[in-house]
Amino acid sequence: MSSGYDGRMADSQSSVMITGGAGFIGSTLVRQWLEHERERVVNFDKLTYAGLPESLEEAAEHPMYTFVHGDVAEPAAVAGTLLEHRPTTILHLAAESHVDRSISEPPLFAQTNVLGTCVLLDAATKYWHSLAGKQREAFRFVLISTDEVFGSAAPGEHFTTSSPLRPSSPYAASKAAAEHFAQSFAHTYGLPLLIVNPTNHYGPRQFPEKLIPKMILAAAAGEPLMLYGDGLHERDWLNVEDGCRGIRAVARRGIPGKRYLLGSGKCLTNREVVNAICDCLDERLGNKESTRLIAAVADRPGHDRRYAVESAAPELQWQPEVPFNEGIVQTVEWYLENTSWIDAATASLG
Ligand SMILES: NC(=O)c1ccc[n+]([C@@H]2O[C@H](COP(=O)([O-])OP(=O)(O)OC[C@H]3O[C@@H](n4cnc5c(N)ncnc54)[C@H](O)[C@@H]3O)[C@@H](O)[C@H]2O)c1
Repeated sequence: MSSGYDGRMADSQSSVMITGGAGFIGSTLVRQWLEHERERVVNFDKLTYAGLPESLEEAAEHPMYTFVHGDVAEPAAVAGTLLEHRPTTILHLAAESHVDRSISEPPLFAQTNVLGTCVLLDAATKYWHSLAGKQREAFRFVLISTDEVFGSAAPGEHFTTSSPLRPSSPYAASKAAAEHFAQSFAHTYGLPLLIVNPTNHYGPRQFPEKLIPKMILAAAAGEPLMLYGDGLHERDWLNVEDGCRGIRAVARRGIPGKRYLLGSGKCLTNREVVNAICDCLDERLGNKESTRLIAAVADRPGHDRRYAVESAAPELQWQPEVPFNEGIVQTVEWYLENTSWIDAATASLG
């Protein structure tokens, strides 16, 4: 039997609304929720280039799963979905998520990540106010933010729940603005809000524009591995299965009003990550020294040097389980085997 909620309602009649469930993290979360939680899952997604129905093939057949094609910035679509499906929890992941795109197209990030979040918060608050008794008590709004809202960490520094928001990129600024709106709804209307700040995720079904899949596919094809600047930017890489277990723990056991930082606890430079990918490919494909393909390119403007978080929150009873050296082997293997998914991702760019 599934774990359900600790002290909160969860049965086959209640439901969770996941926005952005056709994306990288969202599709893993949908799959985990259907497998482990006793609830219907409503996936609300606009299916932008980053949202792929191919990532949801298993879920699509599940009797507890519903897909709603919609835009979080459209008030009527959001309100209608809430009234029809009456979720106990909203897990808000829908976003424009690629930092490079935010540098070339900032207004799109304000539209989806700021306005979209505000529209969803507004509809969620009105819906929550319409609930009564246990349903109202059980309701939670979980905002999936990012560790990038804190800006660049100094050497040895780890962001904590009280670190100030100092976003550097338009992407991070849009996520910080979404957080401010969410906090204002908690403060003004009492919305039971939890904020999650996860570190960089990696794993299967991540759109190939992101560092790890991009490098895997380029190295497998024998193409240059374009590494920004000196490649010594540090990130804490969290396996997507661990990240989604963490989000579920926040939804089940998190305390409304609190912020939760989720990370693996270990930082790697981009160069170390690319070296690890090259080693996997040399081993798997019998390639020779794939690292020779590494080519330094001009650094990204405003590129944060380092992200690192302290993710201690005993009430979650969560800790990451997948070491990077195992997760990266599984991830490389997945990208080598799932060529039809890669074709679908490439086609969705038009
Ligand atoms: N990937 C990471 O490493 C990472 C790390 C920390 C936080 N996050 C956050 O986690 C969330 C998910 O990230 P991801 O990497 O899975 O993103 P993704 O880009 O893979 O997926 C985003 C999803 O949101 C959907 N979407 C976009 N605009 C929408 C709209 N207006 N209405 C409805 N749906 C819309 C897309 O169709 C897609 O399915 C984001 O909020 C992101 O900021 C991601």
